[in-house]
Amino acid sequence: MTHPIRIAPSLLASDFARLGEEVREIESAGADWLHVDVMDGHFVPNLTIGPPVVSAIHDVASRPLDVHLMITDPWAYAPRFLEAGATTLTVHLEVCRPRRDDAVALLREIRGSGGRPAMALNPDQDVADLAPFLAELDMVLVMSVFPGFGGQRFMAEVLPGVRKLRRELGFGGEIEIDGGIGPENVAACAEAGVNVFVAGTSIFGATDRSARIAELRQLAAAARP
Ligand code: DX5
Ligand code: ZN
Repeated sequence: MTHPIRIAPSLLASDFARLGEEVREIESAGADWLHVDVMDGHFVPNLTIGPPVVSAIHDVASRPLDVHLMITDPWAYAPRFLEAGATTLTVHLEVCRPRRDDAVALLREIRGSGGRPAMALNPDQDVADLAPFLAELDMVLVMSVFPGFGGQRFMAEVLPGVRKLRRELGFGGEIEIDGGIGPENVAACAEAGVNVFVAGTSIFGATDRSARIAELRQLAAAARP
């Protein structure tokens, strides 16, 4: 069960005033997926983008859109993000846990609409709590910062959870990591079992974005178990 290494630049760190150009540029620089951070000002204390902007990104993008829903009510909005062109749609464990049956139904609805269902969890959550949902998921997103803002420091303490997900819980899908990812920690993440690497600041802030993506990919490839 070796999944491809995927580098997913987070558009949150791009220049929103030039979003279309940024999308084209980061795709030419080697992005595999485009990571889109959706925040509702409630699940996290920040507001970002909604379905109309995802749709506009989809119009210019050729790579899959990896849409990360940091929102309290994914049931209300998931269909709109799928219509807007999301490929992977990630909902958070924290909102799904208290509504287990509804969450399973939502994940099935995402798949039924042609999307790839995924679930994220915050650094203070136990991956064991994903157990009721794992059979429904194409991917788990392990947050390596508390969500809400780009540019935060990577929390290495989440890596044992990645190992546990693969080795103890037997999850065979893709594992993504998000928050503070850069050349200094990508190898440790790959060694733990991550195959999808979200990076905002370290890619969009690099003087040579193409070289940075290549560097992340190479470091991850060399460290895979
Ligand atoms: C944080 C977001 C991340 C963020 C990553 O809430 O989910 O995707 O944009 O940005 P960096 O790589 O700068 O930590
Ligand atoms: Zn994200």
